[in-house]
Amino acid sequence: MKFVWAELAAENRVGLVSLANGDPDPSLYPFRKFEFEIPDVKGRHVDPVPHWRTHQAPSQTLRAYKDAAIERLEHPEESEISLTIGDAFQYTHGAGLPATQLALGELANAFHRPPNHVVTLTLGNSDGVTKAFRLLGERGEWFLTEEFSFPGMTNAPLAYGIRWVGVKMDREGLIPGELDKVLREWDETRGKRPHVLYIVPCGQNPTGSTLSLRRRQKIYDIARDWDLIIIEDDPYYFLQYDLPSVETSLTTEDFVERYAETLVPSFVSMDVDGRVIRIDSFSKVIAPGMRLGWILSNEMFHHHLVKYTDSASQHPHGFGQIFVTGMLSKRGWGLDGFVLWMQSLCKDYQRRRDLLLEVFRNEVEPSGLASINCAQAGMFAWIKINLEGHPRYRCGDAKEVVVETGGHQVTTRCTTNVPLLMEELLSDLRVAGLIVMPAALFAIPDAEMDDVPSLRTSVYDRCSFFRATFCGTDEAIRAGMGKFGQALEVFFKQ
Ligand SMILES: Cc1ncc(COP(=O)(O)O)c(C=O)c1O
Repeated sequence: MKFVWAELAAENRVGLVSLANGDPDPSLYPFRKFEFEIPDVKGRHVDPVPHWRTHQAPSQTLRAYKDAAIERLEHPEESEISLTIGDAFQYTHGAGLPATQLALGELANAFHRPPNHVVTLTLGNSDGVTKAFRLLGERGEWFLTEEFSFPGMTNAPLAYGIRWVGVKMDREGLIPGELDKVLREWDETRGKRPHVLYIVPCGQNPTGSTLSLRRRQKIYDIARDWDLIIIEDDPYYFLQYDLPSVETSLTTEDFVERYAETLVPSFVSMDVDGRVIRIDSFSKVIAPGMRLGWILSNEMFHHHLVKYTDSASQHPHGFGQIFVTGMLSKRGWGLDGFVLWMQSLCKDYQRRRDLLLEVFRNEVEPSGLASINCAQAGMFAWIKINLEGHPRYRCGDAKEVVVETGGHQVTTRCTTNVPLLMEELLSDLRVAGLIVMPAALFAIPDAEMDDVPSLRTSVYDRCSFFRATFCGTDEAIRAGMGKFGQALEVFFKQ
């Protein structure tokens, strides 16, 4: 139904009266003006994040008014009227407000130049990803993902009967050859060959790995060979580290373009078939409480996503849309201001990552009991415990074990006692006053195990890792790694 009145309204016919909807009258909204105080990044003179954190940065105010008339009265000098509260707070389209869609479309174009993709707003990546799952999967089907994946997402479609196949990873993320192998060797008696790959290409959660361009191209080619749809969940895209710095004196366009060139190209940027659904969020780079993100997809998926959204969460909230539209407009940061903030934010997180690596190298590494990856993006370090060196480590015939995973228990067959040792170590770390996340929470139970409880190695035999974040304070990083090193040494003596 919604499209009928949307089309009629779009006609803008003189004398058209609508008694169609229960749309509250905007004059009754109990607010007249919003003001958002944000860092003033114009001129690109300073590195904004450290100045803002220490309250030394200048600020600017973004304003939104109930209607254009009030705005004109207060700011007669303004030629461009921004999004009004009256418009932003009415029921609107599931795709989001046109002005916000346009602003995010420009942002997406600057970074991905997708050939034919359309923006659909979301309430963040959890919302975007779970909607994409809902759209693409039917009961009994299998989806593919990395063998360690974020349970916040992978648990969602279990409720309606989707099953997961974990694809093996190494330090650089999902291994393309393993993906191809799973698809090539797929046994149709288990069900239809998977047609969806859910993947986190930058700063993967939990392993912190970032796929190189070469791997991305190989994965995309495999997706074409096997007709896979790729759900690219990329909340850490703007948090990539060790990038060449971009000269801030460049013109606006060149500054944005040069910066975009330093980032690893996304799957959507190489999509020629419309098989990539890319999902972005402001959670990690502005604030999680924004609950705002966006999907880039082909028109057909967009259409279905909007239909689904219209009868599920409806459109995202007006506050976020007003803020984002203002922030990305020329009145606010504009695209170059957004890039300047991202560049500066990355420096800050990169410094925290380097601190964690340094403390790890001093407090943990000398014992030889653990090693760490160097995350090129995101918020997570992936720490490997060298359990093979533990006096009680065992490896032999496969035995049935029950493993505690993200909220539920899994019965599996392991050839090692890694799950048991990791549970013990986790408990010791808790007693020592440290919480880190064990790999078992993120493991995708082997699909083969369901069918053939034989001697194959289980993902739980490879669960000798912890995820530790470096997005906390310097004190938390120092104290955490200190406790980790001490508890580990005690554990290896038991
Ligand atoms: C891989 C991944 N996807 C999605 C999310 C959730 O993002 P949002 O806050 O935008 O819903 C997270 C957050 O931790 C994440 O790590």
